[in-house]
Order: sequence, then C-alpha cells, then structure tokens
Amino acid sequence: MSIHIAAQPGDIAPAVLLPGDPLRAQFVAQTFLKEPRQYNQVRNMFGYTGLYRGRPVSVQGTGMGMPSLSIYVNELFQDFGVMRAIRIGTAGAIQEDLKLRDLVIALAAATDSGMNRIRFGGRSFAPAASFSLLQSAYDAALSRGWQAKVGTVVSSDRFYLEDPEEWKLWAQYGCLAMEMECAELYTLAAKYRREALTVLTISDSLISHEQTSSEERQSAFTRMIEVALEAAIS
Ligand code: HPA
Repeated sequence: MSIHIAAQPGDIAPAVLLPGDPLRAQFVAQTFLKEPRQYNQVRNMFGYTGLYRGRPVSVQGTGMGMPSLSIYVNELFQDFGVMRAIRIGTAGAIQEDLKLRDLVIALAAATDSGMNRIRFGGRSFAPAASFSLLQSAYDAALSRGWQAKVGTVVSSDRFYLEDPEEWKLWAQYGCLAMEMECAELYTLAAKYRREALTVLTISDSLISHEQTSSEERQSAFTRMIEVALEAAIS
C-alpha cells in the first residue's frame, strides 16, 4: 500500500505497462491479459495484474505529464519492487518521414521540463532506454513485419506550446516526436537501477496538423501494446 496505489505487496508484477490513460489500462487488461485482477482504483488511476503468455504482467495508468507519471513510477519502484516499466502512449511527429500510426521506440528523451533542472541543480541528465528492453521490443516488431523507428523523443511539460514552431529546434537535432512523460520515466529508472522503455504511436503531426481518429488509432495501438508486452516478458 502506497499513497496513490492501494495494492498489497505481491499484487503488482515485476513488469508493468504504463499507459497515461487509466481506461487504456483497463482496455489492455481486458483485451490482452488472462485472469486480470484490478489492484488499484484510487483517483480512478486503474491498475491491473494478469497473465500474458502465462507470465504475470501489470498495467498501471499514470495520468498525463511528468509530475503525474513520477508519482506512480516512484511508488512502483520504491514500494512494489517493479523491475521493468514500459510506457505505452501517443506522440506528435516532428519529422516529415513519420506518418500517423507509425510506431516509435524511444532510445532517449530530450526535455524542456523543469523536473530534471531542479533535480540536477541546473545540470543536464541524459535519460536513456534500457538497451535489452529496446532490443526485445524492436525484435518483436520486426518479427511481426511491423516497422519501428528508434530514436530520441522530446518530453515536454506542455501540450500547447506558446510558440507553435518551437518543435523545429528539436527537429533540427534529429528528435522524432513530442510527448510528455518519457524523460521522467527514464530518469527514475536510472535512479532506482531498473529497466525502462517507451513505445509510442504517432497520433498527430506538428508539421501537417493531421490527427488520427479514435477508430484509426485502435489497430496501431494494438501493435504498440503487443510490442510492449513482448518486451515485458522477454
Ligand atoms: N505534444 C505533446 N504530447 C503529445 C502530442 C503532442 O503533439 N501528441 C500526443 N502526445
């Protein structure tokens, strides 16, 4: 039992998928896990544990943005002994060759967040993925015939940018897409010596302003979830 997660020790598996949306946690549990059991509903931030190909896996909503994700991931690492944390989410493309519904695996995360500036006293940290989780996720995608782009993403504290062209600087430095959680997840994994990965689906483009409809998202999300689950049990 921690402040925001009303579970008993042992209720949560060593490998956890982390969608921002708690209803997506429910969808993953009901669609992909056998014998799913809900362990948390505090603040409606649902968490479930079930079996994927016979192995225990949990799925926990984190909310949107790094401060919210940080609360859940700190508690999962500190209080529940979670060893592998895999974010599944959406991102906005900032490179021309990324299309809606493409799969992105985050090798590293640049950030404009105040969180690491405060944590490291103005110095900069390099939040990076677990190599072995990344390799497993990439192999899982390729073996199913699905393309996945691997590279740096940008974790921003803001969805709505004051300067709508701000993303262009990140794009010049090769970043693939904007999202709002990865840098904090990778930083906490480094602190607690755990493994972390972020698998994303492109839901919109900051270049063309296209967006996916919710129906279009479903099949792309299914691919992302399967890749993340395969990495979780690898
Ligand atoms: N910006 C930040 N986060 C996002 C975006 C975006 O354009 N799309 C999906 N998550």
